[in-house]
Amino acid sequence: MKLFLAPIQGMTIALYRNLYAEYFGGIDTYYSPFIDTNNMRKSNSSLFKDILPQVNTKGLDVVPQLLSNNADNFKFFANTISAMGYKEINWNIGCPYPMVTKKKKGSGILAHPDMIREFLDEVCKDLTYDLTVKMRLGMDDLEEGIKVIEVLNDYPLCGVMIHGRTGRQMYTGTVDLDAFEVLYKSCQHEMTYNGDIFTVDDYNKINSRFPDIDNFMLGRGALIDPFLASDIKGGTLTTSQKFSIMKDFHDAVYSHYKSIISGDKHLCDRMKEFWMYTSVHLDPTGKFLKKIKKCTTIHAYLEVINQLFHPSNGWME
Ligand SMILES: Cc1cc2nc3c(=O)[nH]c(=O)nc-3n(C[C@H](O)[C@H](O)[C@H](O)COP(=O)(O)O)c2cc1C
Repeated sequence: MKLFLAPIQGMTIALYRNLYAEYFGGIDTYYSPFIDTNNMRKSNSSLFKDILPQVNTKGLDVVPQLLSNNADNFKFFANTISAMGYKEINWNIGCPYPMVTKKKKGSGILAHPDMIREFLDEVCKDLTYDLTVKMRLGMDDLEEGIKVIEVLNDYPLCGVMIHGRTGRQMYTGTVDLDAFEVLYKSCQHEMTYNGDIFTVDDYNKINSRFPDIDNFMLGRGALIDPFLASDIKGGTLTTSQKFSIMKDFHDAVYSHYKSIISGDKHLCDRMKEFWMYTSVHLDPTGKFLKKIKKCTTIHAYLEVINQLFHPSNGWME
């Protein structure tokens, strides 16, 4: 079985991926948040900063992701990325945000299988890398997803990841496993399951329903509980070991940001984002998160962190 860390904009950036691998492990491949190929003019500068080979810990398996509905732009970006040494590039046709979907990108393109075919006709002409696709069930319904899979089956893809929600659902409701199964059964490419794996029990349920699927992508669940991947693989850390690792992880993230961000407010804001997911098992009542959200000075922030990591608290399973 292989576990992938899902791309999460703003969170699973290079620093996070590297420290995640160092402190928690359990993840086989890290998918980086999407780069929008519409930003052609910026293509030589800051756009690639999160995936430059030198920002990755040596040996970490990272897959860059592109958001695009323009084959020429995609090819330009993909060739640049491939030349950096990346073996796989992932095409995002799942992003549900209206700003993206109204331009027929992300899950917005799922209602247009003809556009997907045209795109892949061009992109797959001279592939020099492994192309994988991350999608949802459809923009509005499963019928769209079925047509998309028919198109994807005609191209030499190296894998398809499906998040079992429609784009319209955004992150509401639950994953639709019956709909996922329809797409999985009709897809001829290697399948990765994605969506709502928050606990080892969730993983076990999905695994027993789809015993032939070998690849699972963990998103929010792995940010909320960074030990999830290693626990799925049989990890045996105690809660007090987890508590202490979380403190070291926090300190490493904090000291990195402190070295590159100037100004208390900016640094506090960055750490607030970090805590959005990370607080759940350390602060189940939300009492510390509330205090963190109010911090505007580093002095105040560190005081709350010292309270949170006081030995009288702990990691709550
Ligand atoms: C804040 C946020 C940002 C995301 N950014 C991306 C992204 O850049 N690319 C992508 O393919 N999916 C992105 N996703 C979707 C996740 O990769 C994943 O498919 C989704 O969260 C479902 O998996 P989960 O239930 O395990 O979280 C994002 C999700 C969230 C919540």
